[in-house]
Amino acid sequence: MKNPKEHITFSVPGKKRSVPIFIGKGVFEKISSIVPFTKYSSVLAIVDENVSQYWSEQIYKVLGKDACYLAIPPGEKNKTLSTVEKIWTTLSENGFDRKSLVINIGGGMVCDVGAFAASTYMRGIDFVQVPTTLLAQADAAIGGKTGFNFNQLKNTIGTFSAPVAVISDTSFLWTLRKREYHSGFAEIIKHALIADEKLFDSLSGKDITSLGNKKIAELLSQSTNIKCSIVEKDPFEKKERKMLNFGHTVGHAVEMSCQTLLHGEAVAIGMIAEAKMSLLSGDLVEKKFKKIENLILKTGLPNKVDATYKKQIAQKMLFDKKNINKQIKWVFLEDIGKVKVDVTLPEEIIEQGLNYIVK
Ligand code: GLY
Repeated sequence: MKNPKEHITFSVPGKKRSVPIFIGKGVFEKISSIVPFTKYSSVLAIVDENVSQYWSEQIYKVLGKDACYLAIPPGEKNKTLSTVEKIWTTLSENGFDRKSLVINIGGGMVCDVGAFAASTYMRGIDFVQVPTTLLAQADAAIGGKTGFNFNQLKNTIGTFSAPVAVISDTSFLWTLRKREYHSGFAEIIKHALIADEKLFDSLSGKDITSLGNKKIAELLSQSTNIKCSIVEKDPFEKKERKMLNFGHTVGHAVEMSCQTLLHGEAVAIGMIAEAKMSLLSGDLVEKKFKKIENLILKTGLPNKVDATYKKQIAQKMLFDKKNINKQIKWVFLEDIGKVKVDVTLPEEIIEQGLNYIVK
């Protein structure tokens, strides 16, 4: 296996183990040299229906006829308990035992829901993440968060559970719709924004949406390294990991209110709102704020949402998972590459931040 190959260590209660993350063109074909299949009694591959459309033959060729296959319709609206139940039912009706393996092949939704189902079935069985969207490769599939939406709120039910491995094959990216592909850059931009100004400047200096396999793998490795070093310090999000929620307090509320936006698009709008709040009440300077907005726009991501959603967005923010005693806890951008967590902000700053992103 050639580089790039990254590792993170993710703490699971009682032990510490390392989760290998493989990034590059063709890494999925090598899954049997990464995952010890002979150790498992049976394998369930959960495949995003969009992925099946282009890749079913290839997936079947790699995983073989002995694996069991379950197609899952993609999209946020299917990130529900009933999808989880469908997976549990498939596992149960096919006699999957504790020595079984689940392989999640798809975008963030399939990776999150499939991982949740595996992490709870028979109190937890092994699973592998094969993210096929840029967003899932950059964020959702790494770091051990699993879950689904509940009561119209994002990822309200979930577990922290580490996969056996993450296999991010960049070949999958070339069958994504352009809009879906661009949406993935939001999380890469976020990683640069919270921790690495040099990376941010390098993203600003080129057209990141037209990189080939090798360059996108390099960029994913840089972005993954940032996320992994944060997750390593704080796997269960007690403190540092909250940084990764930059843009997500507003972003999740935008996503759940205006159901037509992709996760990365909503996060892009959320990052603008939260950077604006930082500009209005802190050290972030106008020039840097503009740089952030320019990079987001240049990447084909939106910076505004329809004003009719504003009230709903403000309401949904009150139910953010990070809130304590109904008080919103913000990730505050002090500068590009530098954030502070658990910040409370005055109402008028929040209001102005929201006003900026509505049109
Ligand atoms: N997506 C944020 C995190 O993994 O913590």
